[in-house]
Amino acid sequence: MNLRQHSLAEEFPLVPGLSHLNHAAVGPWPRRSAEVVRRFAEDNAARGSLAYLDWLEVEARLRERLARLVGSPDTSTIALLKNTSEALSVIAHGLPWRAGDNVVGIAQEFPSNRIVWESLAPRGVDWRALDLEQSSDPEGDLCALCDEHTRLIAVSWVQYARGLRLDLARLGAFCRERDILFCVDAIQGLGALPFSLADSGADFVVADGHKWMLGPEGLALLHVAATQRERLELHQFGWHMVADPGDFEQRDWSPAPEARRFECGSPNLLAAHALESSLSLLEEVGTTTIETLIRQRVDWLIAAIDRHGFELLTPRPPERRAGIVTFRVPDVASEHLYPALMRQQVLCAQRGGGIRFSPHFHTTEETLERAMSEVTRLSSTL
Ligand SMILES: Cc1ncc(COP(=O)(O)O)c(C=O)c1O
Repeated sequence: MNLRQHSLAEEFPLVPGLSHLNHAAVGPWPRRSAEVVRRFAEDNAARGSLAYLDWLEVEARLRERLARLVGSPDTSTIALLKNTSEALSVIAHGLPWRAGDNVVGIAQEFPSNRIVWESLAPRGVDWRALDLEQSSDPEGDLCALCDEHTRLIAVSWVQYARGLRLDLARLGAFCRERDILFCVDAIQGLGALPFSLADSGADFVVADGHKWMLGPEGLALLHVAATQRERLELHQFGWHMVADPGDFEQRDWSPAPEARRFECGSPNLLAAHALESSLSLLEEVGTTTIETLIRQRVDWLIAAIDRHGFELLTPRPPERRAGIVTFRVPDVASEHLYPALMRQQVLCAQRGGGIRFSPHFHTTEETLERAMSEVTRLSSTL
């Protein structure tokens, strides 16, 4: 997209005075998605489900956009689920475990990437976690935690708290070599960075739409490699996951051959409309451009953090970070600074022992400037 032709300010009508630096939590919707939802609501109110077939076309377009975003050759690998946690649970409780198997991950992960694997303990599956604080080579150390009983490595592409970006290609190559499955929680990267299934070799990719994809909560991507689809035992059943979901009279059924088999009932078409629209914007801008624009904003923040003598908690090398910048102000407690920033409409998070800023491609320099000047002003008062 030619950014000059496209007014970002028009697409993101955030109220003046709000510094939205919280895409790693919940992103704002672009105007086009708000419009689509408004029209969808009006259509429901005026015509009920008369346009249901059109709605399904939107859902089909969403699957295509998600397939393109992860680099899947077609939509048969894509399921639309409620959220990342549900998608991870489908994987964890679908795989054919043997007592004594283990899963390798990271101790500092977002809870869903820990609890889901820990929940396999009654089946004799051990979750082995790398302590990132003790590691200068996370990929090497994750590989070193694996043994002949390791069935799966499960990590977030980008760590939610301090924004460490893992080298998926390196982990994926190790997994392929050792015949270990690879599960990537891509929620903190997808929509912010180009993703390649071919490079990462991931068997499973999960990501909710409400962060960097700028969609609503309640609709997530589950990509399952064709080779793994039938290996996952199903635990949710209903009319929608069968091969022929339109035939309500048929007594026999079999699971859909596609990843739709993981979707048991009625789809979330409201969220599908919003997410499809948000992804249309991301596609117009292009993931490479988005990555560059995010990097410029993150570089800007890191330069400001250095200038003010704050402590950067996010890794410094560009290939080790994505859109998350976490930092600490010396002698100022983040638990005091965070609510003070929020009161001043600097929308951020308290994570990883510091303040987490997460700008997206549309974030203006004015937003960054205002946020950093509030950090310095408020810090002197705390
Ligand atoms: C790494 C990671 N995984 C998952 C989630 C959210 O999970 P869900 O989509 O189940 O709400 C988050 C939210 O912060 C996250 O950072």
